[in-house]
Amino acid sequence: MHPIMTNSAIKHMYTLGANIKRKNGDLAGKSEIEKMVVCCLPERVKMMMNPIFLRRSIRSFIDKSVEREKLERIAKAGQLAPSAMGRFPWEILIATSPEAKQMISQMSPYSKMAARAGAVIIVCADMQKAIAGQAWWIQDCAACTENILLQIVAEGMGGVWLGTYPKQECMKKISEFFMLPDHIIPFSTIALGYSKEENIAKDRYDPAKVHFERF
Ligand SMILES: Cc1cc2nc3c(=O)[nH]c(=O)nc-3n(C[C@H](O)[C@H](O)[C@H](O)COP(=O)(O)O)c2cc1C
Repeated sequence: MHPIMTNSAIKHMYTLGANIKRKNGDLAGKSEIEKMVVCCLPERVKMMMNPIFLRRSIRSFIDKSVEREKLERIAKAGQLAPSAMGRFPWEILIATSPEAKQMISQMSPYSKMAARAGAVIIVCADMQKAIAGQAWWIQDCAACTENILLQIVAEGMGGVWLGTYPKQECMKKISEFFMLPDHIIPFSTIALGYSKEENIAKDRYDPAKVHFERF
C-alpha cells in the first residue's frame, strides 16, 4: 500500500473534515467517535502527508526494482540537505546490481537485508570539499542521509540506514568494491525498496525530553 495519500485523497479528506465541522459545529450530543473525527482529522491528515511521521526502518522488501526517476529524486532530496558553510561535501553512490547488494549485505552482521533490497545508496564524503581539520562533514552527510530516508518514504518505499562510518571494516569493503579514490569516504549506507511491511512510525514523543526556555 502506498504510504502517502494521493493529492485527490488528501483533498477528499479535507472536504470531508470541513463538511463534518460545518454540520457539527456544536459538538454537544455527539458521540465520542464523532468528536474525535471532527477534532483530530485535520491534524491526522497533516501527519499522513508528512514522511517524517511515517518513516521507520524497513528491513524486508518485495522483489521489485526501483525506478530510475525515483532514485534520481531521492538523490535530489539528499542534495537539498543543509551543510556547514555551504560546502555540500557529499557524493551519492547508487547501486542496484546483485553484486553490490550482496557486498553490502555481507559488510556487517546487521546489513543482511540489503541482499533483498531494490537498491543501495552510499552517502560518501568528499574530504577535498570538507572543511579541513573540522568534523562538520559528519553532520552534513547525516543530514543528507536523513533527507534521503524521508524521500524514500515520499516515493512510496521504505529503507534502513546501515551504520558505515566510522566502522573501518565496512568502509574498507565499500571503498574496495567501488574503487573509491582516497579522498572519498563512505559515510552511510541505505538499503531501500518496496517494503513488505507498512511504513507507520512509532509515536516516540516524550515531552520530558523537550525543554522550553530552560533545561
Ligand atoms: C547511524 C545509524 C546506524 C544504523 N545502523 C543500522 C544497521 O547497521 N542495521 C540496521 O538494521 N539498522 C541500523 N540503523 C537503524 C536503527 O536501528 C533504527 O533507526 C532505530 O532502531 C530506530 O528505529 P526506526 O528507524 O524504525 O525509527 C542505524 C541507524 C543509524 C542512525
